[in-house]
Amino acid sequence: MTEPVVLAAAGAAVVLDVAGPGLPRVVHWGADPGPLDDAGLRALVIAAGGDVPSTVGGPIQPVGSMPLVPTQWDGYAGRPGVSGEPWPYLRLALAGPVRVTDSEVVAEAVDEAAGVRVRVALQLDPHGVVHLRHTLTNVGTDAWTLATLRTVLPIPEQATEVLDFTGRWGLERVPQRRPLGNGTHARESRRGRTGHDATPLLIAGTPGFGFASGQVWGVHIGWSGGHEEYAERISGATAVLGGGELVEPGELRLAPGASYTTPTGYFAWSGDGLDGLGDRLHRMIRSRPSHPRTDRPLTLNVWEAVYFDHDLDRLTKLADLAAGVGVERFVLDDGWFPGRRDDTAGLGDWVVDEGVWPAGLHPLVDLVHGHGMQFGLWFEPEMVNPDSRLAREHPEWTLASPGRLPREHRNQHVLDVGRPEVADYLFERIDALVTEYRLDYLKWDHNRDLLEAARDGVGRVHRQTAAVYALLDRLRERHPGLEIESCASGGGRVDLGILARTDRVWTSDSNDALDRQHIQRWTGLLLPPELMGSHVGPSPAHTTGRSADLPFRTATALLGHAGIEWDISTCTDDELDHLRDWAALYKRLRRVIHSGRAVHGDVYGVVTDEAGVFVHTQLDNPAEMRPRRVRLPGLAPDRRYLVTQCWGGDAELPAGGVTLTGRALATVGIQLPWLRPQQAVVLEARAV
Ligand code: DGJ
Repeated sequence: MTEPVVLAAAGAAVVLDVAGPGLPRVVHWGADPGPLDDAGLRALVIAAGGDVPSTVGGPIQPVGSMPLVPTQWDGYAGRPGVSGEPWPYLRLALAGPVRVTDSEVVAEAVDEAAGVRVRVALQLDPHGVVHLRHTLTNVGTDAWTLATLRTVLPIPEQATEVLDFTGRWGLERVPQRRPLGNGTHARESRRGRTGHDATPLLIAGTPGFGFASGQVWGVHIGWSGGHEEYAERISGATAVLGGGELVEPGELRLAPGASYTTPTGYFAWSGDGLDGLGDRLHRMIRSRPSHPRTDRPLTLNVWEAVYFDHDLDRLTKLADLAAGVGVERFVLDDGWFPGRRDDTAGLGDWVVDEGVWPAGLHPLVDLVHGHGMQFGLWFEPEMVNPDSRLAREHPEWTLASPGRLPREHRNQHVLDVGRPEVADYLFERIDALVTEYRLDYLKWDHNRDLLEAARDGVGRVHRQTAAVYALLDRLRERHPGLEIESCASGGGRVDLGILARTDRVWTSDSNDALDRQHIQRWTGLLLPPELMGSHVGPSPAHTTGRSADLPFRTATALLGHAGIEWDISTCTDDELDHLRDWAALYKRLRRVIHSGRAVHGDVYGVVTDEAGVFVHTQLDNPAEMRPRRVRLPGLAPDRRYLVTQCWGGDAELPAGGVTLTGRALATVGIQLPWLRPQQAVVLEARAV
């Protein structure tokens, strides 16, 4: 018998039965069971059950283990791991030996009759995150049309609650939680971009799991086109978490010899609640070679300051003030190209409007660079306004079937970037502008869903997504230092597919600090703080009309890639002084914030062994008027830390701070003064 395989890393493990005759079966995904000899492993596989009749006379079902690509041949009557036509029900028999290393299992299986070969690859990275990526190849003589190829892992009986996220423009990643009973809880996004309402993670866990408690299993699909994530428990079979790309019928027609590879499904388990899950994901994300490693520059983006009113004098004043405050990156938003006096015209014509900018962008770019700041520019490459030169010259470049133009959204259509001439045009234009203006940064926006994105009767979201990824890759290769932000009407394109070729996300168009507390908390479950654009906006907030005082707004924007989204020429001297102090604080603390472990409890904090930054906020009106004792989790238990208040206005800790061990800070905590609603205190801990 071929021995079972254990992959283990950072306290997590996957145990696989690779004996065949089908694809490897996952016997266990979760806590590392520790050393097991061969007999022990065999016992585990036998104890796990394999295929058993679920009831007398009932079907054989996979109980206790689950093939990496479950099919009806395996007895699995839930969502199939693969389907297509002809031959919707594949019988995947191992073809050749399973390749096993310390961190990876790769196997190939084939259904000769159907002419389909599937290669599965499961990798456990050093942070304990499972990466699944499968490839299906048509090895037959006729076309084979893929309906779905999913990445799936089993979850145990104890995972009885599901947490995922929904939302909308201006309020992304709103949590929703429910019991996981029998059936499928699926989230599907068919927006052609990740979606404001898409879930960055679908999490199943033990009853009552929280940030610091319970076992949790989560899945993320690294893809910006159509995608699904689901938890499924069907009668008699092992429950699963899964996900993959959603394609339209006929969209993935594979010619003989052609292949399709799934987006990577990222699967993470934690025995320490959601913070443990986030920690694994953050470590994994930070270990990517492309992860931004320089100090994240304090940014000023001019959108909410001037909107479409591009006026050199006004922007000059803004840039001068920004430099004075300590801003390090100045971003010119929408409105710099011809006809773009509002959102009805101009998209697609990526040249500088000579009427508004007679000397080009040079006077502003030179001023910004002269101040030692980086210069960033807004684009929305995938879109076109019908009122644009591009649309008039190339109506055929719009992503639509002849005679079936989709509805306009925000007065715009989608360009068919999958056509090489369209991708080449966009590359040429962006490349030319990056070169001419020595752009340091692109804000890459995407302000409409790709609804009805078809051509010649075939859905094109898959092709579009792959083409946009290729365009980004090409630009980054040409301009290695260039940074790119993924924006889609705020946080509508937040996923690890786009983040493989971008450097941060615009987390939300809402700069309302109260909403931002929630949006950033939950976006931060997947993304480490340095990837989340978090800007101080004006009061009242433009998207909600809600007012908040400045210390609360600045404290809220601190634990991210911080910036300003505000017409600071309207600020009082006191407000400018406050921003200057806050900019200095951000620069002093960002190495900790952008490298540490995110922790949640009475506070939201980021900790390393040496230091911690904790934001304690009073979000609503407290029922009791008494000071709170606030625990600061995550520091090294036996080290001593000096905790001081470094931000927070009129709520004061004792001068000089307090010195306590990490253990005492986590268990006993420290007394804070009573806080008003929407008041925040930032505490800094330094090892002494
Ligand atoms: C939507 C973005 O989220 C905003 O920040 C801004 O760039 C506008 N688009 C510009 O049209």
